[in-house]
Amino acid sequence: VAPLKVGIAGLGTVGAEVVRLIETQARVLAGRSGRGIRVVAVTARSKAKKRGVDLRGIEWVRDPMALATHPGIDCFVELMGGAGDPALSAVEAALNAGKSVVTANKALLAKHGLKLAKAAEKHGGALNFEAAVGAAIPVIKTLREGLAGTGVTRVYGILNGTCNYILTRMEQEGLSFAECLKDAQRLGYAEANPSFDVDGHDTAQKLAILASLAFGTKVAQSAVYVEGISSIAPEDLRAADDLGYRLKLLGVAVRTAKGIEQRVHPTMVPKSSSIAQVMGVTNAVTIDGEGIPPITLVGPGAGGAATASAVVADIADVARGIRANPFGRPISHLRDTKKAPMERH
Ligand code: NDP
Ligand code: HSE
Repeated sequence: VAPLKVGIAGLGTVGAEVVRLIETQARVLAGRSGRGIRVVAVTARSKAKKRGVDLRGIEWVRDPMALATHPGIDCFVELMGGAGDPALSAVEAALNAGKSVVTANKALLAKHGLKLAKAAEKHGGALNFEAAVGAAIPVIKTLREGLAGTGVTRVYGILNGTCNYILTRMEQEGLSFAECLKDAQRLGYAEANPSFDVDGHDTAQKLAILASLAFGTKVAQSAVYVEGISSIAPEDLRAADDLGYRLKLLGVAVRTAKGIEQRVHPTMVPKSSSIAQVMGVTNAVTIDGEGIPPITLVGPGAGGAATASAVVADIADVARGIRANPFGRPISHLRDTKKAPMERH
C-alpha cells in the first residue's frame, strides 16, 4: 500500500514535534496504520529558522495555500493557529480539493467548524481535531465515537493548561501572575497571543466544540459566557485556601430545559474534590450521561509532545481510512444552539 503523504503548515511548538514523532515512530505508525506515513512537504513563515528537527528530503512550499492544494499530498496538517487566514483559506482549500485535514486549531473550529465540516462532508475528506481540546486527552473521540447513544447532560472541566499551570504555581510558590505566564510561554503551553488563554477565550472555544459534540448542536462560541483569570492575585488564592477551597478556571456546558448553558469562569472548588487535585498543565474533562456514572478523562493539556501525540493519532486514522463525521453526526442533523440563561448548578 502506498504511504500516506502528509503536508504540514506550521513548524512551531507542535508542528516541529509532529515532524519528529512521525520520523522517530515510523515503524510503530506503519504497524498501527497498515501503511507508512511520510511528511513530504512543509511550510512556515521563516524558511531560515532552526526547528530542531531534520527537514532534509522534505519539500519547502512557499505558502500554506500552495501546500493545502499541493497535488503530492493526501493529508493537510494545519498547525499555524488563528481563526482567520491563512489557516481558514488553506483548510477550506484542502477540504475542497478532497484532501483530509488534521488540525489542533480550536479558534478556527469554534468559529468556522460548521462550514469546514460541510466542506469535508461534501468532498469526502476527513476533518480530525483531537488535539484541539485537551491536547493528549482523547476527549473528542470519546464524545464523537465512544458515547454514541448515551444522552450527555453535562460536560465540564479544566480545559486550559496555561491557566491551570499559572494558578497552581501562584498557589504553591506564591509567584506573581506575570512570572507564571512567562514560564508557560517559555514551555510552549500558551497561545501566540496569551490573552486567549488568560482571558478565558481558549477555554470557551474548546467548550463550544465539546458542547457541539455532546449535545448535537451547531458549534457556537458566541453562546459561551466568558470570564478569565487575569485579575486573580495570590491573595485571592490564599483567601480560597483559608475557606477550604481552590480556584480553578472551569468550562461548563449543561443541557437544561431552556437550552444549552455554556460558561467559563474562575470557580471555587472544595479542596477535597477530585477536580481540585488537577494541578499544573494537566486538564480534566468530566462527562455526565443519562444512566451511566460520570466519565472523567485527565491528562496533559498543552505542550509540544502532548499535542503532537494527538495530531499524529489523527493522521494515523486518516492513513487507516477512518472517517468520522467531524461533529459526530451529519451536518443536517445538528440543531441550532439554544442558549439557556445562566443558573446555579
Ligand atoms: P507556534 O506559534 O509555536 O507555531 C506556529 C507556527 O505556524 C510557526 O511555525 C509559524 O511560522 C507558523 N505560521 C504562523 N503564521 C503563519 C503564516 N501566516 N504562514 C505560514 N506559517 C505561519 O504555535 P503552536 O505550535 O503552539 O500552536 C499551533 C496550533 O496548535 C495552534 O492552533 C494552537 O492553538 C494549537 N495548539 C497548541 C498547543 C500547545 O500546547 N502549544 C496545544 C493544543 C493546540 P514561524 O515558525 O516561521 O514563525
Ligand atoms: N494554550 C493552550 C492551553 C494550548 O494552555 O491549554 C492547548 O490547547
